[in-house]
Amino acid sequence: MTNGVPQPAFYIFKCQQSAPPGMPKPSCVRQDDPESQQLFQHLGQQLMMKGLIQTVMPIQTGCLGRCQLGPVMLVEPGHTMYVGLTKAKIDRIIDEHIIGGNIVEEYVVPEEMWGEPIAPAAVAQ
Ligand code: FES
Repeated sequence: MTNGVPQPAFYIFKCQQSAPPGMPKPSCVRQDDPESQQLFQHLGQQLMMKGLIQTVMPIQTGCLGRCQLGPVMLVEPGHTMYVGLTKAKIDRIIDEHIIGGNIVEEYVVPEEMWGEPIAPAAVAQ
């Protein structure tokens, strides 16, 4: 038994990268898509409303390298990358994955865009 300050059960890294207007590259937060601008706030509010904010930490992050599939967020532990997010999808991810323990497979990045990681020991110089 330990009585230390509990660590979070999950960190949710939400990509908040916004491309400047006129940039051809897509980004997770889009000038012409109000919902994409509200997703991080929605995530935080839902975690708060469900009493989870004490154990699930939402983090705003920059580009996670899967811009074509945005909006995206990464759930850790587990390396689960969710893509094409909407508010409704975030709600389902909280209920089924964060609370229920079951990854919402239909929102996960396709396998061909999320291959096995390269071991740092294999490439370190
Ligand atoms: S802008 Fe979000 S993954 Fe690149």
